[in-house]
Amino acid sequence: MAEETTSPAPAPANEWTVRKVLEWTTGHLKKHGSDTPRLDAEILLAFARGCQRIQLYTAYDETLTDAIRGKMRELVQRRAQAEPVAYLVGHREFFSLDFRVTKDVLIPRPDTETLVIEIIEGVKQLAAARHESGDTSPVRVIDLCTGSGCVAVSVAKRSQMAKLKVQITATDISPAALAIAAENAAKHGVQDLITFVEGDLFAPVAADSRFDIIASNPPYIPTAEIATLDAEVAKHEPLLALDGGASGFDVIDRLIAAAPGFAVSKALFLMELSPEQADTASQKLTAAGKYTDITVRRDLAARPRVMKARLP
Ligand SMILES: C[S@@+](CC[C@H](N)C(=O)[O-])C[C@H]1O[C@@H](n2cnc3c(N)ncnc32)[C@H](O)[C@@H]1O
Repeated sequence: MAEETTSPAPAPANEWTVRKVLEWTTGHLKKHGSDTPRLDAEILLAFARGCQRIQLYTAYDETLTDAIRGKMRELVQRRAQAEPVAYLVGHREFFSLDFRVTKDVLIPRPDTETLVIEIIEGVKQLAAARHESGDTSPVRVIDLCTGSGCVAVSVAKRSQMAKLKVQITATDISPAALAIAAENAAKHGVQDLITFVEGDLFAPVAADSRFDIIASNPPYIPTAEIATLDAEVAKHEPLLALDGGASGFDVIDRLIAAAPGFAVSKALFLMELSPEQADTASQKLTAAGKYTDITVRRDLAARPRVMKARLP
């Protein structure tokens, strides 16, 4: 008599199982230039199936429904056109938090975590000093060019968790980006700690506003370089988030000029830029005549990434 077995019968060779779709997609995306084809395939298939990536591993022999295959086909076609995975699935992790992203916002980069760490460090020091002197006012932070809100929301969340009092103003010139940023603040329960305002740098902020920490990750790519970037960035991310004008310094220069007018005494100025811009930015900060203690902080890959300075 044949032995009974509980394991499922192997799928016929002509059926599209999870395993087969992953293998095929990996090969296809590799051919189309993805640096992480297997990871992309897994993330997209998990999204199409509405499951966690890890759940694919126990479903290798499951045959996909026509609906899931149809969804997967569309995702793979878009990915093969260099559309970033984060836009396809609508979110990206940053600073251990999940952020909603759409094509209206720059995809948060690990490089920017350095800026967040520096802001949080500044908040901690100021909050401790206030605590000692019995001052109960919140530390006032402005995040200019907030995009997805990843910087403002991460700082707010970490401050909330550490019971540090902050009040953050976040600005962006793009109303579509601000809508996503507000969504991200609500998603992480920090909407009461952040005021979002739309406009050009400090323009939407009351002229008599003063901040303890002025921070920004502005657009800083020289216009001519944008076309030379990876297609994922050049073709799909918002130009407004990338384009720093002919030299790359258009917005940086305006920030350096305007920040002193919105700073309390000894305020902290923090600005992300590309490693190649650090020396010039340092000279510009010195030449402005209003900044002291000018240093550059390195990112996780040890590249110069964030300008740090004090206002008088
Ligand atoms: C490099 S992205 C940074 C986004 C986000 N802070 C991050 O770190 O991922 C720059 C952002 O600046 C915004 N922006 C560009 N020019 C601006 C301006 N003149 N005033 C305010 N925001 C601006 C863009 O809409 C974009 O969201």
